[in-house]
Amino acid sequence: TTEKPLKVMISGAPASGKGTQCELITKKYGLVHIAAGDLLRAEIAASSEKGKRAKEYMENGKLVPDDIVVMMVKERLQQSDAQKNGWLLDGYPRSLSQAKALEDHGIRPDIFLLLHVSEERLVERVVGRRLDPVTGKIYHLKYSPPENEEIASRLTQRFDDTEEKVKLRLQTHHQNVEAVLLIYKDITVKINGDLPMEDVFVEIDTALSSIVGMKSKKS
Ligand code: AP5
Repeated sequence: TTEKPLKVMISGAPASGKGTQCELITKKYGLVHIAAGDLLRAEIAASSEKGKRAKEYMENGKLVPDDIVVMMVKERLQQSDAQKNGWLLDGYPRSLSQAKALEDHGIRPDIFLLLHVSEERLVERVVGRRLDPVTGKIYHLKYSPPENEEIASRLTQRFDDTEEKVKLRLQTHHQNVEAVLLIYKDITVKINGDLPMEDVFVEIDTALSSIVGMKSKKS
């Protein structure tokens, strides 16, 4: 077919549920999930020069400089799996300069999903978040507890998931988000992220299905 693959951006404050929804979206739509934070944590895990520099910023809840992030994401987007299956870009762009760098390369999504979650919930979500290093799955001690003792015993916490650090991350988010939203205003769909995960996904699924429908009509 001549159908073009789906291109999606998802944005929202720290711990608004981007990663959680991305797991559900990729399962249904088969998109390649590209998360800027995950790419950076992989560099840290590999003890690369980039990773060492990035960690200093991440520990302070600041944006990692563009000379590290911009190329890293652009190269990942251009790999053949993402070109063929479509992509789901998570946590990128986070600043005007990052959005402009994408626009300059003609990289534009079909839809920009914006998760809205009230501030007091964000702190609770960050503090209770746990990760399974074996499967990569995201858990929450209260909202999405591990299925069994074996998983529970191996769960880890992110180094920037403290109440103090999330406040810094939120500040950074507020300083940058408006400029990014302006660029994608005409393709933005606001999602109520305060709801339980399954209900948030219903809203997202409805928005994505309608885009898929429109794209197939066009082609
Ligand atoms: P990044 O890794 O992107 O972190 P973030 O934006 O702070 O987002 P999170 O991953 O913390 O949260 P999420 O929205 O994915 O929520 P989740 O689904 O896990 O970035 C980290 C750092 O890297 C940045 O601070 C920056 O330094 C750097 N960086 C990243 N991108 C960059 C860029 N573009 N430029 C420069 N620097 C960059 O959910 C959170 C918790 O809530 C989980 O426990 C989950 O189980 C639970 N939960 C989720 N949904 C629900 C729900 N509906 N109800 C109840 N609980 C829920």
